[in-house]
Amino acid sequence: MIRAKITGLGVYLPQNIVTNDDLAKTLDTSDEWIKSRSGIRQRHIAATGETTAQLGYHAAVRALKDASLTIDDIDTIIVATTTPERTTPSTGAYIQHQFGVSHGAVFDVQAACSGFVYGLDTAAARIETGRSQNTLMIAAETISRITDWQDRSTAVLFGDGAGAVVMQASETPDKKSGAQVLGSYLRLDGMLTDILETDGGASYNQTSGVLRMHGKEVFRHAVRNIASSVEILLEQENMTMDEIDWFIPHQANLRIIDAVGKKLNFPEAKTIISVDKHANTSAASIPLALAVGVEDGRIKRGDTLMLAAMGAGLSWGSSLVRW
Ligand code: UT7
Repeated sequence: MIRAKITGLGVYLPQNIVTNDDLAKTLDTSDEWIKSRSGIRQRHIAATGETTAQLGYHAAVRALKDASLTIDDIDTIIVATTTPERTTPSTGAYIQHQFGVSHGAVFDVQAACSGFVYGLDTAAARIETGRSQNTLMIAAETISRITDWQDRSTAVLFGDGAGAVVMQASETPDKKSGAQVLGSYLRLDGMLTDILETDGGASYNQTSGVLRMHGKEVFRHAVRNIASSVEILLEQENMTMDEIDWFIPHQANLRIIDAVGKKLNFPEAKTIISVDKHANTSAASIPLALAVGVEDGRIKRGDTLMLAAMGAGLSWGSSLVRW
């Protein structure tokens, strides 16, 4: 059978680091409040003129190098983003432009903070059905551009960054052996659009708008939905929690991650955390956390990874990956 295998990983963060103390200079907040309520210590913020497509491009270059491929080998580029370069064309188009090539299928996926699991599933499905041999799946965000910097309830929570994976077709006898995306579970509840959304949109009011969030409600849904998406996917794949080597949840709030761990009875020591360094980078948060675990040597080839996220929509989902 043909399976989709992740063969390269690359991330990119803007150079500019903004600490909680930096934010407290202009907002009625404190390092103590932000750390205790979210676990966030700092975030990277894109410089003026530094855009989603640029962050995504740099992450993609690194992922290609890691996979020992070039852009010429890639037949599909999928970009997960909530903060597109422009309203049209796709952010993928601008990333392809930076590579200076014009071949292949290129499109964006909009699933907010769940963008990476949505993108991964889309890429895996195209590979498994023979439509793609080598896909570049990029998650890139400049959430700082849709942040109301006067609103302390949201401004302290987000950051900018990008992560990319190269996914390749691979022949395996079954799901039991070899690196591959084992399965995914995706959901969205459109009845909950209003608890996390921008107050603008191209069609709605001809602006891109800024984020508005009912934090407590989102928190509650995040814990429930991330935990349930892990349980449902394990059941779907006939696997148990004991078979998971590393849990890589969306990095929105350390308290959400802790609450999910408790609900699932999953050990904290096998959970990758990067929200302290990156804050919530929306679609980019899972690949950024994955890279932390790979770079420090915790995640090794052959390990089984559970990725899970929840974001605006509300959208949520999970992916099981053998690394
Ligand atoms: O990727 C998915 C998207 N987002 C999320 O998953 C985020 C989900 N929600 C959360 O992470 C949490 O709800 C927050 C971190 C946003 C807030 O934590 P909370 O424990 O739910 O706090 P709260 O909203 O109940 O606010 C408590 C107090 C309020 O003051 P009063 O009304 O009790 O006097 C807020 O005004 O904290 C105040 N507050 C702040 N104080 C200092 C809100 N933001 C700040 C701030 N600094 N930045």
